[in-house]
Amino acid sequence: MPAPTLTAVFHDADTAPAEYRIDPPSEQCEYLCDGELRHWPGPRQDVISPLGRALADGTVEPRRIGSYPLLSEAEAMDTLQAACRAYDHGRGAWPTMSVEQRIGHVQAFVVLMQAQRSEVVRRLMWEIGKTLPDAEKEFDRTVEYIADTVEALKELDRAASRLVIEEGVVAQIRRAPMGVVLCMGPYNYPLNETFTTLIPALIMGNTVILKPPKLGVLLHQPLLQAFRDAFPPGVVNTVYGEGGEVIGPLMRSGRIDVLAFIGSSRVADLLRRQHPRPHRLRCVLGLEAKNAAIVLPDADIALAVQECVLGALSFNGQRCTALKILFVHESIADAFVDKLAAAVAALPAGLPWEPGVRITPLPEPGKPEQLAQMLADALERGAQVVNEGGGAVHHSFMAPAVVDHVGPGMRLYTEEQFGPIVPVVRFDDIAQPLQYVVESDYGQQISLFGEDPDTIAALIDPLVNQVCRVNLNSQCQRGPDRFPFTGRKDSAEGTLSVHDALRVFSIRTLVAAKTSAGNQRLMRTILRQRKSRFLATDFIL
Ligand code: G3H
Repeated sequence: MPAPTLTAVFHDADTAPAEYRIDPPSEQCEYLCDGELRHWPGPRQDVISPLGRALADGTVEPRRIGSYPLLSEAEAMDTLQAACRAYDHGRGAWPTMSVEQRIGHVQAFVVLMQAQRSEVVRRLMWEIGKTLPDAEKEFDRTVEYIADTVEALKELDRAASRLVIEEGVVAQIRRAPMGVVLCMGPYNYPLNETFTTLIPALIMGNTVILKPPKLGVLLHQPLLQAFRDAFPPGVVNTVYGEGGEVIGPLMRSGRIDVLAFIGSSRVADLLRRQHPRPHRLRCVLGLEAKNAAIVLPDADIALAVQECVLGALSFNGQRCTALKILFVHESIADAFVDKLAAAVAALPAGLPWEPGVRITPLPEPGKPEQLAQMLADALERGAQVVNEGGGAVHHSFMAPAVVDHVGPGMRLYTEEQFGPIVPVVRFDDIAQPLQYVVESDYGQQISLFGEDPDTIAALIDPLVNQVCRVNLNSQCQRGPDRFPFTGRKDSAEGTLSVHDALRVFSIRTLVAAKTSAGNQRLMRTILRQRKSRFLATDFIL
């Protein structure tokens, strides 16, 4: 029988406040194709929530909260046809529409989307166990991202609304769409990270096929009508089902122009390889990471602990940006580990809507067992769990574990745990963490904790060429979303941010002419009579 503190985690899933209940289950039978919500009469995938039902004997029963379509290759290819038709080799209404008009469609979508906030938030809690404040933040951050994207695009368009003359050649240089984009987001930010590629892809004039992550499908359902009503037919389409059945054929068709994928490098490589002409495929990838913190002898321990707890355990450590290994200087390691263990032990665990809750059940089937194996491997090789009950598992829940004395040869040292385990490595010589970063397969971010400007500066310079963001006395994170977000090595391909994403989903294209009198006349007439949408100097106000 699990300890009472563990059984208490699931205690009131049945007595959730009415606005957060998911009863009856949400049965999704439709998918969006060519501007229609098409009914799917075929097999569906059951969605099992990580928030199981507590039984009287202390065990937890899996809870089914709905289902979604398991489409076949034929429906996937229909969505591809629809997206290709809407793009029509760049001649479709959407890719040739003025920027101002496309912005109008996106803004109409946001209005409809906002009406679904509470439903999306509720489903985020039930499908992936995200806490209520984090689920609300994910939704609001996404809306803000869209608003910022609109502003950034206006700025981009304004800058392009003029001609340039170089070496006797006059030109107008703009950004044009790429074609059909396949957008696949991750389960940990199923709304936000999907939309941070989907929205820039759309607004730049591409057409899109969206495949939600395996966990986090139903939360997109309330937005299907909004997509249908806000965009012309075929501009946004959705597919659901097994990757091999629905994604493989799309990639093998050779008609996907951009793959926007956030997930594992294994799947990214598999998808890319399926494309018959990989040089025609642009990839925008967010992949694995094993971000380290280095806590130096002069670090403010209280601050470092606070940031490391946030960095390592927000959303149970299920963030690509999470701190996944802490290197702590031996001289302060005892004090740091004591404080860290106490801070982690004090994190309230429970169900997502409970006030103040910080640790929740994990959505990936089999994840607690997988984490328990990594933990056992470290313990066998000399590491120790230092917080009472750390690492205990009950159904889909794992109590967060602070694991001291982690070192080379342990899985926790090199593998991305993506869960509530905080490995601590004690070091004497700064060469050890630096070598770790150099040898790591990943290169996303790092956090440095310390106060001496000389020491920190001497670390910044080598580290900026290993990772893509060095955080000083702060946890690793993606935001603010106007900052570039990317990684080196196996961690990413392409850079995302409000500003960069507009560039990633478009290509610079120009109309150019030698400045002969005839060409000047020609261009002037086109401009004055507003005959082209591309060769135009209209200025968005
Ligand atoms: O999972 C990766 C997310 O992009 C992390 O975003 O650092 O803002 O939580 P965040």
